[in-house]
Amino acid sequence: MQRLRASFQRARQAGFSERFYDHLLRSDASIRQKFEGTDFRVQNEKLIHGVLAALALGEGRETGKLAFKRLRESHGARGHGVTMAMYRTWLHVFLVTLEELDAEYSDELGRAWEALFVEVFEALSDESGATKRALR
Ligand code: HEM
Repeated sequence: MQRLRASFQRARQAGFSERFYDHLLRSDASIRQKFEGTDFRVQNEKLIHGVLAALALGEGRETGKLAFKRLRESHGARGHGVTMAMYRTWLHVFLVTLEELDAEYSDELGRAWEALFVEVFEALSDESGATKRALR
């Protein structure tokens, strides 16, 4: 997880959030719609917190588990209504942005990030397990 932290740190210094949302909003109209009215000066920071929470989850920390319990509520059907297809796009955009901004990016590093986010999306998925199954 230390390697992933170092990778994200390098990308953050190169302006990760701005580039990430630039790509994400262009990637899909239904995703763009979710962010209508969002203040990105604030949201950019929230993305950083989300990724740090993902790293904490990957390390098995309570703070990570708690963060995603909350995010499951806010992003679920009764909240922002984020679908598993949107999460897949999110992950794709995350990796593309990281490759652009982390000079030490490799396919192997990308696979380690992917494994972490499969765990994150499981934590974000609903009780029925429908979204969880869609990941397999
Ligand atoms: C395509 C996938 C996603 C969509 C469409 C989405 C959508 C949203 C929206 C609409 C907001 C509220 C923005 C506002 O306040 O105006 C939000 C907030 C947030 N998102 Fe996401 N999100 C996605 C994926 C993720 C992922 C994977 C993470 C974590 C790694 C994350 C972390 C957060 C955090 C920390 C907040 C602020 C707290 C909250 O509103 O619950 N999001 N997201």
